[in-house]
Amino acid sequence: MGLYSDHLRPRLHAFTLNDRITAATRDRVCSGLAGDVLEIGYGSALNQPHLPSDVTGVWAIEPSATGLRLGEGRRSASPVPVVVAGDDARSLAFDDDRFDAALCTWVLCSIPHPGAALAEVARVLKPGAALHFVEHGLAPDPGVVRWQRRGNRLNRAISGCVLDNDVRSLLDASPLTVTELTAYYEKGAPRSAGYMYEGRAVA
Ligand SMILES: C[S@@+](CC[C@H](N)C(=O)[O-])C[C@H]1O[C@@H](n2cnc3c(N)ncnc32)[C@H](O)[C@@H]1O
Repeated sequence: MGLYSDHLRPRLHAFTLNDRITAATRDRVCSGLAGDVLEIGYGSALNQPHLPSDVTGVWAIEPSATGLRLGEGRRSASPVPVVVAGDDARSLAFDDDRFDAALCTWVLCSIPHPGAALAEVARVLKPGAALHFVEHGLAPDPGVVRWQRRGNRLNRAISGCVLDNDVRSLLDASPLTVTELTAYYEKGAPRSAGYMYEGRAVA
């Protein structure tokens, strides 16, 4: 922890993940959410304006106090109530089968041992309920993967995340079942950080 990770990195995330393309992605990923929703890696509330009106509340898991502060305006402008309910998705203080849905946008790359977070999400989702996700990760092209591996250390220092998470394998190894998955290079993004895995996985 330090000045950069506590104060500057959350601002970097709030800035870089807040453009026209990510807004369209958020719309797609949040579509169909309803009831009580768990959001891991809530950040600065950038998904809040994209939540459907069927969402009754969001239980947010987020370790960054700065991120949460940056999201105050979006939270207060939203009709959907938010409870900040923890700071580590790998250890959730909820009973089994608590939530109607879960949401995770560009988070697994930031969590060491992300499989532990997916196991917790699966535990607290009701049977048949879905995790809505978009994550960047391992590219299909060996040339891009080489750049991802070379860039991991620097990216970890700047963005706090790894570039080459094998998102499909992480989901397959978790208790969740992938029911929808689209993988693509995001238009305009550097290919090493821009290979997206977007979809749904059910408990
Ligand atoms: C790249 S940001 C994405 C934020 C937000 N989901 C969005 O789409 O704007 C990754 C977020 O994951 C959070 N994070 C890091 N480790 C975490 C953990 N163990 N549990 C939950 N969230 C975590 C970070 O603080 C950061 O807010």
